[in-house]
Order: sequence, then structure tokens, then C-alpha cells
Amino acid sequence: MFNKKVGLAVAAILLAPVAAVAADAPPAAFNQCKACHKVEAGKHGVGPSLAGVYGAKAGHAEGYKYSDNHKASGLTWDDANLAKYLADPKGTIPGNKMAFAGLKKPEDVAAVIGYLKTLK
Ligand code: HEC
Repeated sequence: MFNKKVGLAVAAILLAPVAAVAADAPPAAFNQCKACHKVEAGKHGVGPSLAGVYGAKAGHAEGYKYSDNHKASGLTWDDANLAKYLADPKGTIPGNKMAFAGLKKPEDVAAVIGYLKTLK
């Protein structure tokens, strides 16, 4: 018979090393962002560099030309605002120029925010 406790313990042991190795690696969902965003400070693509974005104010990256609506949003990129924005960029900041529909899965939003926190 399947023992649920043993099964969970085995799963935890098997998954733990993977989680440790992957701590600072981008989650799969971040691949969609790479088309427009670089993670090195000062390097911009279609979108601004995401280095240091966590905890910063909207429009944080120097040398990048943001839309007026984006700058005027006054948002600070904490967990709550990032979660809203990444799920629905256009709904969160109407008229901003990030041409991205949004991440549909909450677990992808959480994984991407966790990764953004590691970008200094
Ligand atoms: C098609 C290109 C494109 C894609 C794909 C895209 N972005 Fe953006 N992103 C932009 C642009 C352009 C802006 C600037 C918006 C403005 O100025 O109105 C932006 C702005 C941002 C900002 C605000 C930065 C700041 O300094 O205020 C964050 C955070 C962000 N994007 C995260 C992401 C994440 C995470 C993904 C993937 C889930 C993603 N973006 C996908 C183009 C894109």
C-alpha cells in the first residue's frame, strides 16, 4: 500500500538539491521576458534592464526612455505591485508600453518575482 508520509519524505529529499541549485537561475517563465529585458545593470533592450528593479520605483532604470504613463504610475515594485503588473501589465498601468499580455499562472508570477529579487 502507498504510504503518503514516506512518499512525501522521499519527494522532499529528491527535490531539495534541485531547488538549491536553481535558487538564482531564472525560472522557465522568465524566458518570455528575455525577448525584451536584460538582467545586467544599464543594459536595455525593448524594455529596461531589470537589475535592481525589486523595491525600486516604476521607471527605475537610468538611460531608458519609459512611457509617461509608466513613470507617472508612482508604483513601487514590491511583491503586491509586481504580482498585479506581471499578471496584467495593461490593466495595472493603462497606456504603458510593455507589449506583454501577462503571466496567467500565479505560480509563474511568484517564481518570476522570486527571481527579480536576486537581480542586483
Ligand atoms: C514585448 C516586450 C516585453 C516583454 C515580453 C516583457 N516586457 Fe517588461 N517591459 C517592457 C517595456 C517596453 C517596459 C517599459 C514600459 C513603459 O515605459 O511604459 C517594461 C517594463 C517592465 C517593468 C518595470 C520596470 C521599471 O523600471 O519600472 C518590469 C518590472 C517588467 N517590465 C518586467 C517584465 C517581466 C518579469 C516580463 C516577463 C514575464 C516582462 N517584463 C516581459 C517590455 C516587455
